[in-house]
Amino acid sequence: MTSPSHVPRRTAVAAALALGLGLAGCGQEAEGGSRYRPKGTGSTVGIAMPTKSSERWLADGRHMAREFAARGYRTDLQYGDDRVENQVAQVENMVAKGHRLLVVAAIDGSALTDVLSRAKESGAAVISYDRLVLGTPDVDYYASFDNARVGRLQGRYIADKLRLDAREGERFTIELFAGSPDDNNTTYFWNGALSVLRPYLDRGRLVVRSGQTALNQATTLRWDGGTAQKRMDDLLSKHYGATRLDAVLSPYDGISIGVISALKSVGYGTAGRPYPVVTGQDAELASVKSILAGQQTQTVYKDTRKLARQAVLMGDAVLHGRKPRVNDAKTYHNGARVVPAYLLDPVSVDRRNVRILVEEGYLKAADLGGAL
Ligand code: GAL
Repeated sequence: MTSPSHVPRRTAVAAALALGLGLAGCGQEAEGGSRYRPKGTGSTVGIAMPTKSSERWLADGRHMAREFAARGYRTDLQYGDDRVENQVAQVENMVAKGHRLLVVAAIDGSALTDVLSRAKESGAAVISYDRLVLGTPDVDYYASFDNARVGRLQGRYIADKLRLDAREGERFTIELFAGSPDDNNTTYFWNGALSVLRPYLDRGRLVVRSGQTALNQATTLRWDGGTAQKRMDDLLSKHYGATRLDAVLSPYDGISIGVISALKSVGYGTAGRPYPVVTGQDAELASVKSILAGQQTQTVYKDTRKLARQAVLMGDAVLHGRKPRVNDAKTYHNGARVVPAYLLDPVSVDRRNVRILVEEGYLKAADLGGAL
């Protein structure tokens, strides 16, 4: 394995010395609260993020750059504009520049095998960020949220909001949306949500009038809101003439916004025809406003500051020849190896607890237009 955390201790110590560190820094915990506050090794960290079109990735990049800088590292932050070839070229470039650590949120989880094998040859460590890089042994650690739990929160929200357990005998309509087929998270979100919804679908309590209940019928390439809007337009016109749609499983706020536009264009969003239950993820500003305006119903809050900090702690530990703390060593098999992971907890947010976003400083009350 490539990461200094996997080399024998003697080698790790030699590596640490070569990096100009005292022995005092070795073998101690990297996580907050440790006695030793590691200084940057002078290395540059390559950070490859998927796109600037979603505010969460902007925040992820900003937070990581800030946290790495605070620990004495330089950073090389790149966005791939959701184009796989851009990201591959950016990571190639980072390897060519000799960066010692790469933190990558993949656009296409399976497209980085070659470039990461070159990263390994050059001795760089690789942290998979939020999305697991697939099909390669050359990824050392994974920092993410509990992605199956994200899906379960969305599914449970729909079941509770429709009061499926209380209203025995009633049937409700639902349509299902999933994320990008090339993002490993998509399957976790989907399986998590369906683990809750499947029993209701099987008993006919939830009815998918389009019949599109397979993951490959529900995916949304690159998580694109416009693509989701078109699919929703189509589903509404073909299957919901006079029939009300009661719920939409949406895995991500950008998709929810597209879904809601389609619903609005056929007359949902009035007192007589309220919006269906629409889930989401990321607590993006536009969606939180939409929740406050009574359009989107729910989102899943994943504090990107915490995720960024976790990735930085992991990276800093690796660069100092220590083993980062992980809390899951079995769930995330990427097709080549089980990648040791640190998973954070997602939080379901709707109108009732939306204040948490302001209280925790994730969004500013002023940005919500005083709607709180
Ligand atoms: C996923 C991520 C979600 C959401 C989505 C679209 O990989 O886990 O939180 O951001 O991408 O960007």
